Amino acid sequence: MTSPLDALGLELPVLAAPMAGGPTTVALVAAAARAGSLGFLAGGYKPPSALAAEIAGVRGEGLPFGVNLFAPNPVPVDREAFARYARSLAEDARSVGLDPATLGETLVEDDDDWSAKIALLLAAPVPVVSFTFGLPEARVVAALRDAGTVVVQTVTSPAEARAAAEAGVDMLAVQASAAGGHSGTLTPQVLPEPVPLVELVGRVRGAVSLPVIAAGGIATPDAVTGALDAGAVAVAVGTVLLRSDEAGTSAPHRAALADPARQETVVTRAFTGRPARALRNSFTDRHTAGAPDGYPAVHHLTGPLRRAAVAAGDGERINLWAGTGHAHATDEPAARILTRLAQGR
Ligand SMILES: Cc1cc2nc3c(=O)[nH]c(=O)nc-3n(C[C@H](O)[C@H](O)[C@H](O)COP(=O)(O)O)c2cc1C
Repeated sequence: MTSPLDALGLELPVLAAPMAGGPTTVALVAAAARAGSLGFLAGGYKPPSALAAEIAGVRGEGLPFGVNLFAPNPVPVDREAFARYARSLAEDARSVGLDPATLGETLVEDDDDWSAKIALLLAAPVPVVSFTFGLPEARVVAALRDAGTVVVQTVTSPAEARAAAEAGVDMLAVQASAAGGHSGTLTPQVLPEPVPLVELVGRVRGAVSLPVIAAGGIATPDAVTGALDAGAVAVAVGTVLLRSDEAGTSAPHRAALADPARQETVVTRAFTGRPARALRNSFTDRHTAGAPDGYPAVHHLTGPLRRAAVAAGDGERINLWAGTGHAHATDEPAARILTRLAQGR
């Protein structure tokens, strides 16, 4: 199947997925492009000015790239549950040197500067934009496409794929629940069904005719072959790049990924109030059951605690985002990882 990405002249069908919160860097996106792949800058969490600086950084090198944004799809948190959850974090706060009384003092329900980021992408259009968490309005999709941008929507089910097709996007990023980090589901109140990626790609292709990028748990050349054989035009990988030279992954996160004793991943709302897959640690053990629904409020609640834990090198209290293929993440240049995986094409 031809795809709107063909115009970018990519040589590798293995793309570098966006990873907000530090792992994705300009260097990682540039390394992917130089290897003949395509990387996505992670526009989530950061202010529009920081995203603009990153875009200028990759554009300055004359390389193709994508930009990923969190589309608003807030799940307002229950105030009582929020306060209860904040209290349950007191011991964790103390152990990283924070005053527990400061956690959850304010309840933040923001939209991650959505309008300003869209304005930025319309003022100086980029080759590809992808969305996760929510589905933008059709007029936003149309404006980006009119500006010459290829628009990609993350979906986790055939129903979401149909909704994305109706909104007018060019392509889908089909994300299986094996994926590391947040699920892009449009209904985060429901945990994503554990459907294997190849099966999910088949189901989505049965529902809509848009070209598909497959993601979630891909960590070997054979898995790349499987996804392409299922009809995907490309795959996207995140977790296998977390230990790459160019990634901005924190030291305790890198150490946890390299630790053979950490085998298990879990899907948890404990860090952000939205389902995400992470390596199991003490925080997920103690808080997964009690964490309320509520992104972005819970993300902002635990943010100071997680930052302090990173600074303290405490891998038991941070979100160790990882997909099921985490054991294959290696400490080497991103180009080598992407090229090796693409041998499975
Ligand atoms: C650390 C981390 C951060 C992520 N951040 C984002 C993000 O900002 N936007 C997004 O659309 N997906 C994000 N994801 C999901 C990836 O884009 C991709 O769907 C996923 O990594 C694919 O599964 P894999 O990790 O098993 O390769 C993130 C994944 C990880 C591991």
